[in-house]
Amino acid sequence: MSATAFRANIHPAVEGGLQLEVTRVSVQTSSVTTITLGDPSGTPLPRYVPGSHIVVQYGDGANAYSLTGSGSAPFEYAISVLRVEDGVGGSLAMHRLAPGDRVRVSRPRSAFAPVATARHHLLIAAGIGITPMLSHARAAAEWDAAASMIYVYRPEAGAHVPEARELLGAALTECTDRGSFQKELTEKLTTQKLGTHLYVCGPAAFMDTVLGHAQELGWPKTRLHSEPFGTPALDEGQPFTVNLVRSATTLEVPAGVSLLETLEKAGKSIPNMCRKGVCGECSVSVLRGTPQHRDLYLGEEEKVANTTMMCCVSRSLDQELELDL
Ligand code: FES
Repeated sequence: MSATAFRANIHPAVEGGLQLEVTRVSVQTSSVTTITLGDPSGTPLPRYVPGSHIVVQYGDGANAYSLTGSGSAPFEYAISVLRVEDGVGGSLAMHRLAPGDRVRVSRPRSAFAPVATARHHLLIAAGIGITPMLSHARAAAEWDAAASMIYVYRPEAGAHVPEARELLGAALTECTDRGSFQKELTEKLTTQKLGTHLYVCGPAAFMDTVLGHAQELGWPKTRLHSEPFGTPALDEGQPFTVNLVRSATTLEVPAGVSLLETLEKAGKSIPNMCRKGVCGECSVSVLRGTPQHRDLYLGEEEKVANTTMMCCVSRSLDQELELDL
C-alpha cells in the first residue's frame, strides 16, 4: 500500500490524534499480522494504561485495535490484526500496510484497565483476544504483579504464543480444544485467592461462557472485566427521526445508517472510539422516546432507564427520539 492510500479525510474517530509511520510488519499466523507504528521523527509516543486501544483510520473508515505493549514509555505502538475476508472493519486494508506507510491514529484510550488493587489478575483470552491480555501480562511483569492466563486458540493458529510463554511461564495455560478449556476454567475459577480480578477478551459467546460460569460460582460482578471483539453484525434497523433539542434540529436516520453517522453528517462532533457499541465513548442523553439499545457497554439497569444511549449502534424503537444535543 502506498502512503497516499491513507490520505483521506480525517475520520472523526482519529481527530486530534497522531500521524504515525509503519515501522515493521510481522506475520503472527496465516491470518494475524502485527503492525508496529512509530513517530516518523523517532520521538516517544504518549503513554497508555494496559488494555488500551487506538483507532486506526483506513481510507474513509476507522477501527479500534488493542495495543499489545505495557504502555510505559512507548516508542512504538504495536497492534495485531486478524484478517477477516468478508468483514467491513478494514482488516484487509490493514494487512496491506507496509513499512514506510503513514497512518492516522487516535491517542490511546483505556476501556479495559487492570484494577490496581487486585491481588491477582486472571487473564482469559480466546483467539485474537490475546492482544489486550498481552498488554496486561507485560504490565504485570513490569510491576511485579501476580498474573496468570488461560489462552484458548485453534491448533496452529495461536498468535503471540511465544511471548505469552515467555511472559507468564508456568502461569500460562494453553488450551486448543473446548474440553480442556472447560476443565481448566472451572479449576481456575474455583482456586483463586480472594481479591483476584478476572479479565476476559474473545468472541461474545466465549465471554458469555466465562462470565456466566464465574457468576454461577459466586464471583461478584465487580471483579469481572470484559472486552469483546467481533461484535455480531447488526441488522440495518428501521428509519427514525431524531430531534436535537438544544440545536432545534430534526434529522432523519435512514435504515442502514447509524445515528452517529447521521449526527456527524449534520456537523455534530460526537466523541467516539470503537464505533461498535463497546467503548462507551459515544454516549448521548435521551430526553424522550425509547432507544433500541444494541450496545455492549451499558448495563441492564442503564438500558432500562433509557436516559442514555450509544449512538454508534443503537437506534430507536419509537418513530421519534429526542436527544439533549
Ligand atoms: S463509539 Fe464506542 S460505544 Fe459507540
